[in-house]
Amino acid sequence: MKPSFFKTRAHLLVCTSEKCASKGSRILFQTLWNALERERLAYYSGGHVRLTEAGCLGACQFGPNATFYRQLEPGNLEEGWYYGMDFPKMLNLARVLNDGNKLPIENRFDQ
Ligand code: FES
Repeated sequence: MKPSFFKTRAHLLVCTSEKCASKGSRILFQTLWNALERERLAYYSGGHVRLTEAGCLGACQFGPNATFYRQLEPGNLEEGWYYGMDFPKMLNLARVLNDGNKLPIENRFDQ
């Protein structure tokens, strides 16, 4: 039997490196972590999202920054990069990733 880690649909990463941290990303990360547990979005609580801290994502002036990758179909890995994130935007992104829905375009680097 595989550990539940491998049932993760999406991996969401929040930069908690120095410059994003100075804009509140460490508090954002912890608050989001608590929300994922509360809403059962975290992979270990019945959801499909794995949340981890990330080092610098290379766009410090736009932080707090986040990225994700997810696989909705075998062999089709999707990724996205977001800037200027706050708690409501991060929670919305986590819900979308958990449910396999269309990604928000607001604050997305590549849109
Ligand atoms: S410190 Fe977050 S992107 Fe560089």
